[in-house]
Amino acid sequence: MSEDGELIPENLRRPASSSTASSPLQRTIADYNTIKEIGEGSFSTVYHAREMFETRRDVAIKMCLKQQILRQKRIDAIMREKNILARLSTKENIHPFIVGLYCTIQDTDHLYFVLTYASEGDLATILKKLPNRRFDEAQARFYTAELVEALDHIHSLGVIHRDVKPDNILIQASGHILLSDFGSAKELSAIKEAPAENPPDDRPKRRASFVGTAQFVTPEMLKGQPVDETCDYWAVGVSLFQFLTGHHCFHDESEYLIFQRIQKLLYKFPEDFPENARNLVVDLLVLEPNGRLGSSERGGIADLKSHPFFEALDWKNLTSSEPPKKS
Ligand code: ADE
Repeated sequence: MSEDGELIPENLRRPASSSTASSPLQRTIADYNTIKEIGEGSFSTVYHAREMFETRRDVAIKMCLKQQILRQKRIDAIMREKNILARLSTKENIHPFIVGLYCTIQDTDHLYFVLTYASEGDLATILKKLPNRRFDEAQARFYTAELVEALDHIHSLGVIHRDVKPDNILIQASGHILLSDFGSAKELSAIKEAPAENPPDDRPKRRASFVGTAQFVTPEMLKGQPVDETCDYWAVGVSLFQFLTGHHCFHDESEYLIFQRIQKLLYKFPEDFPENARNLVVDLLVLEPNGRLGSSERGGIADLKSHPFFEALDWKNLTSSEPPKKS
């Protein structure tokens, strides 16, 4: 275990295991057999690995370099991600469509998040590999419904994701989704408690990091306004459009032009876009956050779930329902 307590806060050196139950011991990275690298982000590398102890589960290990965390002043962000993941991973809160944190580990140079593994990759990559680069309506409905269900769960716990996009929706071996990457997530209470004249100290960083995926930025983020859970519903609309067309609804040659399109709500459906899906996207891509379907002003999540696009969908039995066939 690390000796550099002065660099990394004490609670980051503790495993999340006390709240995740499945790993009561302090694990070390030697307890895992790394199988292969499966992803690389700006702040981390993700590996597929296997537990070398009794449970022998496949896991995903997100590895962050401590030096990079310190240099890029991301300690608060990493701590927030760890705390949110740990809270979403308790016995009471764990959800089948949300990535779970088994434990955190550190050695001299690294921090590791040991996470539920999704073997089939992310929906953005899956889409790109399809012959026509899009899902059919049944597939799009299934993934959108599971996403809405996952968001309903985290919102009910006061957590907003803030980076919902097909790249962060993973598919498990079962065919069901796993919402991942809580690196931009925030607890709603933390947002609401921030006094208006004294914006949260991460506000400039938050805007900068959000600009990472221009196509998914919300109008309120562009205006520098605080966001609430309705930013995730905007992202459901953008994702559904991508599922059914294979491309972003707000696309252009530069980030500047993409932002102009978002602020003016300039996007166009292809002729063959299914009617109920079109109506749902229109109801979600509303400039004013409290005008979006899913907002408390628009009937909350119940009205989103009863939209005609989801007609006949058995919300209660999503986990046991058959995932769509690969096309
Ligand atoms: N990439 C990022 N997180 C992952 C996970 N939990 N499973 C598989 N691939 C991932």
